[in-house]
Amino acid sequence: MAYSPIGQHKSELDTPALLIDMDTLEKNITTITARCKGAGVDWRPHTKGHKSPVIAQKCIDAGAMGVTCAKLGEAEVMAAAGVRDILIANQVVGAQKVSRLVNLRHMSDVMVAVDDPAHIDAIGEAAGSIGVSVRVMVEVNVGMNRSGVDPGAPVAELARYAADADGVDFGGIMGYEGHAMGMPDDKKEAECKRCMGLLAESVAAVKAASLDVPIVSAGGTGTLAYTPDLDGVTEIQAGGGVMMDTYYAKKLGAKGLHYALTVLASVVSHREPERAVIDAGRKTVHGDYVLPEALDDDIEVVQLNAEHGHLRLGKNARDLKVGDKIEMVSGYSDMTVFLHDVIYGIRDDRVEAVLDVAARGRLA
Ligand SMILES: Cc1ncc(COP(=O)(O)O)c(C=O)c1O
Repeated sequence: MAYSPIGQHKSELDTPALLIDMDTLEKNITTITARCKGAGVDWRPHTKGHKSPVIAQKCIDAGAMGVTCAKLGEAEVMAAAGVRDILIANQVVGAQKVSRLVNLRHMSDVMVAVDDPAHIDAIGEAAGSIGVSVRVMVEVNVGMNRSGVDPGAPVAELARYAADADGVDFGGIMGYEGHAMGMPDDKKEAECKRCMGLLAESVAAVKAASLDVPIVSAGGTGTLAYTPDLDGVTEIQAGGGVMMDTYYAKKLGAKGLHYALTVLASVVSHREPERAVIDAGRKTVHGDYVLPEALDDDIEVVQLNAEHGHLRLGKNARDLKVGDKIEMVSGYSDMTVFLHDVIYGIRDDRVEAVLDVAARGRLA
């Protein structure tokens, strides 16, 4: 029989390995579900971070109404796994991708963000040629200055264009307040209000053009404390918070969620009492925004090279030997998971499942 680590204690896994504590993951999913439900909004969790249909399905089982994806390739993976309601929160451009998008419509109720009539023309034509219709969401620039049309009248104009186009249905609007995520709490609340106010103003403009706006999609883990409560928002895209990491906790002020995603590494060199080196560097765990955090007392991850991690060992650190294993909370999980083929699902310290990072590499 093929080798399987299922049932093993996590400390027996070869390293480096990416782990997710299933109880904590499920608790985070329950927390975000309850947060959205309490605010009377739907939850459409982003899958760009975990890239795992199993985690997506856990969110849906808990009450999420579908998923958000960053890339068409991710959406294809989610659709193949049976997820029906999918928002691609980016523009899909180019004949090959547009053809894949409209064909995906046969497997799922996929929606896509647009901010230009050219997007609508291309999707409408391709959809019409195979007899489907694709919902489009007009993306609004609420201040991040990434994609999106300006709020208000330009949104109504593009919504009308979509509504009148063949092969396309106008599904609603989306505005990601990404620039607010890292603000301090007092500023963040005000900025979320301002951004959602711009979406509300856009909804009013679209309604004035005699169109319904069934969906108003926004939000991320970093604004979960505010955006769900703001008038007009119908769904929240927060996703990475199900895994949690030091970036969400320390830089984005995420509260009430617990660290689920960790990296297991081995000590490979320990030449001096106060420092040791592990087999997990930047190719294993992201640490550019904030370093990973060792779960051990008095052991600190102080630097990452490509393949080495540097530990500072305090006076109360355990007596590490070469070959000993160290578990650390991931830096930004979004930029860690895609470095791995699998995530080991751990419950009560034993391997319960091996989760395929199925959308890994699906960048197109
Ligand atoms: C469009 C969009 N929505 C939502 C999010 C928030 O995702 P998360 O909650 O995983 O940080 C992001 C993050 O980059 C995003 O680009």
